[in-house]
Amino acid sequence: MIKEKAPGKLYIAGEYAVVENGFPAILVALNQFVYCTIEPSTNGVGQILSHQYQNNAVQWHRQGDQMVVDQRDNPFSYILSAIQVTEEYARTLNQPLQVYNLQIDSELDSASGKKYGLGSSAAVTVATVKALCKFYNLPVNKDQIFKLAAIAHFSVQGNGSLGDVAASVYGGWIAYHSFDRQWLAEQRKFLDLTTLLNLPWPNLNIESLTAPANLALVIGWTGKPASTSQLVDKISLFKAREQAKYHQFLDASRRCIQRMVEGFHNSDLNIIKQEIRYNRSLLQKLAERSGVQIETPLLKKLCQIAEEFGGAAKTSGAGGGDCGIVAIDGHADLKAMVDQWESNQIERLPLAVHFVDNVQRYTVTIK
Ligand code: PMV
Ligand code: MG
Repeated sequence: MIKEKAPGKLYIAGEYAVVENGFPAILVALNQFVYCTIEPSTNGVGQILSHQYQNNAVQWHRQGDQMVVDQRDNPFSYILSAIQVTEEYARTLNQPLQVYNLQIDSELDSASGKKYGLGSSAAVTVATVKALCKFYNLPVNKDQIFKLAAIAHFSVQGNGSLGDVAASVYGGWIAYHSFDRQWLAEQRKFLDLTTLLNLPWPNLNIESLTAPANLALVIGWTGKPASTSQLVDKISLFKAREQAKYHQFLDASRRCIQRMVEGFHNSDLNIIKQEIRYNRSLLQKLAERSGVQIETPLLKKLCQIAEEFGGAAKTSGAGGGDCGIVAIDGHADLKAMVDQWESNQIERLPLAVHFVDNVQRYTVTIK
């Protein structure tokens, strides 16, 4: 029996801008996991199952006479895509394919089947790729796992930055620059996977960061799940309509992340906090201009309370629900802050940063 796990993640800053080719974001991997178990089938029939995904429904809407099914929020789409891509890789290495039972156990989905917004689709993709590579004895390093999982995830969601996949593969705090996905889609048509995995991917850049010792990361969950893919769709409508304003946002976000990365290099919590606040204001302006609700009333409350205690807070990821993050001095009265959250129906998620293989700082060889 093979068992592998992949961590969930949260965005710290740079959301939405990172969807554009080469733009940066900062993310962190968390110690909450998706597990994937594989064992050979004994009767020639395979099963793919998960206790957490039993109540998953398929979303669809009508376009004229057409029924359009949105597979992007269905975890099975990511599992199947991860299997397809990893088996394609196995075939290029002449590994015979097998029939197996695959089980997913997710800590990233609450008992009631709700998502916390901790990157469950990325983590389930990474966990499946890792488990299958082990099952088929494929020689892979982290860079290759990232590329396989990114290809699998991108072929389902189609509009994401893949920063969540990077956080799940590399762990810790990272600065992630998104690669050129149009280039990838082109190359996929005529290069085999082994070649593609060993090529440098344009603009892809991942840097491991070290957080200052006095930085405490506090996470609040607002209880309402949000669909990242649908929120990104809405922002791309704004991009089409208001190109100049959209580019202003992109440039300001890029500079903000550059300064924040410098803050990490200099272990300067104040700079990091300042840029988290500035990034929040950029996202608020984007929301206002596009009419997309990023900061829900409860996320606003979460931030207000955190600010009262000296924290710098913002929505994490696409917003519209899910989680908010706070960077705060570890000596602040965190308990009082969390108590105030709880009396406002904001749940603290008691999670810690997860370092893959216990490596806190590493040099990413990926190009
Ligand atoms: O809501 P999350 O945690 O899935 O984050 C989405 C972040 C975006 O930048 C809006 C989209 C992306 O793929 O990077
Ligand atoms: Mg989200």
